[in-house]
Amino acid sequence: MHDLFDALVPPMPAAEAMAEGAMLLRGTALAYETDLLAALGDITARSPFRHMVTPGGFTMSVAMTNCGAAGWVTDRTGYRYDRNDPQTGRPWPGMPECFLALSVEAATAAGYPAFRPDACLINRYEPGARLSLHQDRNERDFANPIVSVSLGLPATFQFGGLKRTDPVKKFALRHGDVAIWGGPSRLFHHGVPELKDGMHETVGRMRINLTFRGAL
Ligand code: SIN
Ligand code: FE2
Repeated sequence: MHDLFDALVPPMPAAEAMAEGAMLLRGTALAYETDLLAALGDITARSPFRHMVTPGGFTMSVAMTNCGAAGWVTDRTGYRYDRNDPQTGRPWPGMPECFLALSVEAATAAGYPAFRPDACLINRYEPGARLSLHQDRNERDFANPIVSVSLGLPATFQFGGLKRTDPVKKFALRHGDVAIWGGPSRLFHHGVPELKDGMHETVGRMRINLTFRGAL
């Protein structure tokens, strides 16, 4: 039974190139799962998930919070990194050791051994939530890659090019996968179409995404 199944379903490659400078590492976060989920609980107890508003006045379907020295926020005045959580008026929770260790391990494996994140944007997708095609460009130094960790329900990752109209490649992101983009693809457009409904055995009815950045 097992042998037959293995023969029919070829194993997914452990690493996949998405573009020049961009890699997808399968399952790298699995070894950190328990610690990541515990740390996430501590972070969201202090700075809860919230639906932020874009400068254009739209409420985002993805709920967000942050940890680290700075956090990404959006409101009617624009996008920025803020050292304080505007909702609590206090600094964002610190970056947990396991977050740092995972992001450095993944960045190193993708060819960015000097990466040390100072900010982690935490995205929560419930079924139906989506993130339209965008560039990550509020960070100070684009020499740092973006390291993006997927937990919970599977999603499709759209990875395009420098222009919004460039063709988009699609990658399946599953629990434990880590995507890294930097160098020539640091400013490539990317997005996540509507999350399909489902139930993940440890994370629940949602997808959590951690994106590590060198923001300050
Ligand atoms: C992001 O672009 O900030 C998030 C990407 C993702 O959820 O995979
Ligand atoms: Fe992004």
